[in-house]
Amino acid sequence: MRNASPLVASHTEDGSFIASDMVALLKYTKDYFVVPEEHIVVMKADSITLYTMDGGVEEPKMLHVDWDTTAAQKGGYDFFMQKEIYDQPEALHNTIMPRIHNGHADFSADNISDDIFKGVNRVIVTACGTAWHAGLVGRHLIEAMIRIPVTVELASEFRYMNPILDEHTLVVVITQSGETADSLAALRLANERGAKTISIVNVKGSSIARESDYVLYTHAGPEIAVASTKAYTTQMAALFALIGRMAVVRGAFNEEQEKAFVDALMQAPDAIQQVLDRKEEMHHIARGLLEAKDAFMLGRGLDYAILLEGALKLKEVSYIHTEAYASGELKHGTIALITEKTPVVALVTQERVRDKELSNIREVQSRGASVVVLVKDGIDLADADYTHVFTLPAMDDVAMAFPASAALQLLAYYVSMDRGLDVDKPRNLAKVVTVE
Ligand code: M6R
Repeated sequence: MRNASPLVASHTEDGSFIASDMVALLKYTKDYFVVPEEHIVVMKADSITLYTMDGGVEEPKMLHVDWDTTAAQKGGYDFFMQKEIYDQPEALHNTIMPRIHNGHADFSADNISDDIFKGVNRVIVTACGTAWHAGLVGRHLIEAMIRIPVTVELASEFRYMNPILDEHTLVVVITQSGETADSLAALRLANERGAKTISIVNVKGSSIARESDYVLYTHAGPEIAVASTKAYTTQMAALFALIGRMAVVRGAFNEEQEKAFVDALMQAPDAIQQVLDRKEEMHHIARGLLEAKDAFMLGRGLDYAILLEGALKLKEVSYIHTEAYASGELKHGTIALITEKTPVVALVTQERVRDKELSNIREVQSRGASVVVLVKDGIDLADADYTHVFTLPAMDDVAMAFPASAALQLLAYYVSMDRGLDVDKPRNLAKVVTVE
């Protein structure tokens, strides 16, 4: 019987199956149904029947996944996290290409009506963990390009803060699993209060996908490692597409701006591939962090948003306490923690804050910190002496989150692996958080 937690079921020639996640069934079948809330499934060797609580028989709504059966295997990689990092160019391609037609973002195949973008005077993005970080990147883009106020709320806080929501509010819920309890509760509150809702989801047919007004699937394929990688970059890609369409519908883009934006998005898979091709360079950099107890990541603007995710990645798989800081905030207290024992990773991809960022890097260097700089190709680092410099392929500043995130994922992966940890199953964590 389903009571809140996710449940999927299927029947094949080999019998009936039930699981909390479709990925577990993939070895046996690609056809399944989501057991609706407060329904009962009776499973027999030769049949499966769905009942309502009052005993009525209900026809299950069958779903089909087009993931191939090897998608949930390691396929020659040592860890799922490693495989999923490498899956990204293809996963991004699958997220982006069906939404671009003749150079325009287009959601006709997703049945998303343009009406959802009209009459909106505020956007609220809500999500948890990595998905929340994708929302922070989205906020920068929406505010810069569409000039609508955006707030990005932690879904676990959302229902306790009595949010102001009405029919002019667009609520975007981002989630890989589509079953995160806090995100689902946030969506239900938004629905109850009459906001327009759209979700960016990876798992087809999940609760959040079903309960949103509209859903944009990321098509990333199954993500098994607890640490989210390809789900995150495909969530950002889906947000880009959403922003591209919204900007057109609301008249915020001229032709040239739209073209530049769509072109940047389409370059994302290749930019990530270029970073992955230089994995050994990042492995070498990772060796310098193996003994660290604490680490800091510094950046400004979009770089800061990207680093919040980079820091979560490093801490959850390596157990190194890592904090991402908006570089300008450091001097308001945290710089007291910087010593020669606290490695710093600085991200410099945003041309307009380059000078300020370099000056913040000098401040931590003068306190003895070793600094790894991830820099957009073409940005001049002014010949200072850094411990390592990793050059990221140059894209439009707004799209630098793609190559930068791949580099940070590799860093976290190698530190965890070289510390001999269970990369895919960090302690105390679950892949899908279906409790509050
Ligand atoms: O399935 P969701 O995207 O809703 O999960 C939200 C978070 O639990 C998740 O992003 C978590 O922070 C990551 N697994 C961390 O890598």
